Amino acid sequence: MNERSGTRENISWLRWASLPILLFIMCACGSADTPEKGITLKKTGRKVSLIAHRGASGLAPENTIPAIKKALETSCDFIEIDVHQSKDGEVVVIHDPTVDRTTNGTGRVADLTLAELKKLEAGIKFDSSFTDVQIPTLAQVLRIVKGKKKLLIELKKGEEEYYEGLEEKTIQLIREARAEEWCVLQSFHDPILERIWKADFVIPTHKLIVGKIPFLPIFIDHELKFGGFDRYSEATAINVHRYFASKAFITSLHNQGFKTFIWTEDTPKNIQKLFDLGADGVMTNHPELVERP
Ligand code: G3P
Ligand code: CA
Repeated sequence: MNERSGTRENISWLRWASLPILLFIMCACGSADTPEKGITLKKTGRKVSLIAHRGASGLAPENTIPAIKKALETSCDFIEIDVHQSKDGEVVVIHDPTVDRTTNGTGRVADLTLAELKKLEAGIKFDSSFTDVQIPTLAQVLRIVKGKKKLLIELKKGEEEYYEGLEEKTIQLIREARAEEWCVLQSFHDPILERIWKADFVIPTHKLIVGKIPFLPIFIDHELKFGGFDRYSEATAINVHRYFASKAFITSLHNQGFKTFIWTEDTPKNIQKLFDLGADGVMTNHPELVERP
């Protein structure tokens, strides 16, 4: 266990108690619906954001350069990516704490060096035509996006432990790329957000949650938590799973001073519905199906 394992979120009975609820949510709404034909969004009269989730990950392997490049061709405002840290301390773009699901390799990202990660095929499990696609570094993605779209960077944790210094390295890379104006950081994990806030880095941060139980001061991020959202006063948004995105909850978040980006909706007519409910942003694996008014 590292120095950050003693926080309030690591109350083990709470973690176990939340498991059935998280399992239910994953079964009930884990995968987005099959996309239909595209739409043009209605004019809203307010600023709303479309977010390409893991790049345009319906068209190309998630969190890879081809998915980022496809997203750049769409009408999205943000490109969302996930970051982990390699054994030798490089910030790499991949969703899971292991390489097993998305590459032809096995093992934990934290146990592999950047050179070892770069040898893996990160595209062929999506489609055999995507050969020679590597796991990108955050630095590479920053160079490609280059302010053409905003970048929503989700900081992950390892299978068991938090990555030592991931937050500081991510901030450093953003500074080196002079990308402060077009990057936003988000995480499910409070210790990660707290380290970003401590670094006194002037950049928007979003708290990710699954949802809130209506009428009760209980919400779920990666476990059950009790209390309100005042603890996230430094965050500009609280991002919620689409299953929990009711008009009442979105309005309540707005009244508390938060924006909200909803994850993850692939059916265009439902993307429109979420904006009609007041969502400030909607994440989708299929940004190519959405045109702007
Ligand atoms: O950005 C929200 C969404 O990406 C969180 O879930 O599992 O896709 O990283 P996940
Ligand atoms: Ca993510």
